[in-house]
Amino acid sequence: MNILNYETVALDEQAGELVILDQTKLPNEIKFLRLTEQKEIWQAIYLLQVRGAPAIGMAAAFGLYLAAKNIRADTWEEFFPTLHAAKEFLNSSRPTAVNLSWALNRMEAVAVNNKDKSVSEIKELLHKEAVAIKAEDVQMCRQIGEHGLTLIKDGDGILTHCNAGQLATSKYGTALAPIHLGRERGMNFKVFCDETRPLLQGIRLSAFELMADGVDTTVICDNMAAQVMKNGRINAVFVGCDRVAANGDACNKIGTSGLAILAKYYGVPFYVFGPTSTIDMSVERGADIVIEERAAEEVTELWYRQRMAPQGVKVYNPAFDVADHELITAIVTEYGIARPPFHESLKEIFRRKNLR
Ligand code: MRU
Repeated sequence: MNILNYETVALDEQAGELVILDQTKLPNEIKFLRLTEQKEIWQAIYLLQVRGAPAIGMAAAFGLYLAAKNIRADTWEEFFPTLHAAKEFLNSSRPTAVNLSWALNRMEAVAVNNKDKSVSEIKELLHKEAVAIKAEDVQMCRQIGEHGLTLIKDGDGILTHCNAGQLATSKYGTALAPIHLGRERGMNFKVFCDETRPLLQGIRLSAFELMADGVDTTVICDNMAAQVMKNGRINAVFVGCDRVAANGDACNKIGTSGLAILAKYYGVPFYVFGPTSTIDMSVERGADIVIEERAAEEVTELWYRQRMAPQGVKVYNPAFDVADHELITAIVTEYGIARPPFHESLKEIFRRKNLR
C-alpha cells in the first residue's frame, strides 16, 4: 500500500490509543505504534518516532486528551493539577518546535476556560479540541500548498531539506504541499532531497513520500547542495520550519542555515513554509530560540555498521539551526505569503488570521 494512504498520527477512539506511524522504521518497514502511557508518548516524540513540528503538536494534543481521560477526579481542583503536570511532561520531550507547546497550551486553555463544567464535560471538550487540531492541519497544509504553487512552474527543480511533507503533518505537508498539490493537478517537479544528516529525514522520508506520489525525485548528500545550485538545476529551495521569530529568522533542521547562505550566493529563491502555529511572535529573533542538542551516537554510530569516530572524541550535535531573515525570500503560511520586512508582513499575516 502507498505510504500516502496511511495516517501519520491518529486516535483510536475505541481502544483509547494514540496510533503513530513509526518514522524511525521508514522506508524499510511500515509499522504502527499504539500508545496509551504518557511515558511512551513522551518517548515516541523524543525518539522521533513521530516527528515534524505539526505532527508533534497533534500527537501531544491526543496524548494530553488520553492523560485527561484517565484522570480519576470529580472536581476541577482534583482534576487540573494532574492535567497540568501531564502537559508539562509532554512539553519537555523536545524544546525547539513551537507546535508542541502551542498545541498543549491550546488544550490546557480549553480546560481552564471551562472549569465551571463537570470533569466529564471537560474531558469531552478536550477530545473535541484534539480532533479539531488535526482537522485544521489538513486544511492549513492545503492552503499553504495553494500559496506555494504560485511560486513555481511545472518542471521546476526544487531542493528540499529534512522532511516537511505529509509524514510531518496530517496531509500534504508544508514545504512539500505545493509539490503534492501540483501532482493532483497533473504537474511534476524535479525534487532534490538533501540526505539530512544525522537522522536522514530527507533520504528516508521525503524521498519515500515523494516517490510514492510519482514525483521525479533525486537524493543528494548534504554537501552536494552547492553543486546542484551552481549547475542551475535548482529553481527554488523549499524548507519547513520549527519556530519562526517575529523578525522572520526561521529555525529548522540543522543544515537549513547553510542552504540559505548557498541559495543567496547562487541567486536561488529560498522559501520557508509553515503554518501560523509555527510562528512565535513572542520570540523577537532567532538567537532567542532554544536549539535542541541530541545524543553523540546519532553522529558517530547510528546507520553505520561500526562506530565511525575515534573513541572519546568530542561531538556537537545540534538538531536545528536558524536561517537569518536576510537570507529568506518569503515565508509561506496558510494566510498568504510574507515577504521582507518580515516584522511587518508577519503581523499582517496574523491580522488576516484574526479576521477569520
Ligand atoms: O527533528 P525533526 O525531524 O522533527 O525536524 C523536522 C523539521 O525540521 C521540519 O522541517 C519541520 O518540523 C517542519 S515539518 C512540516
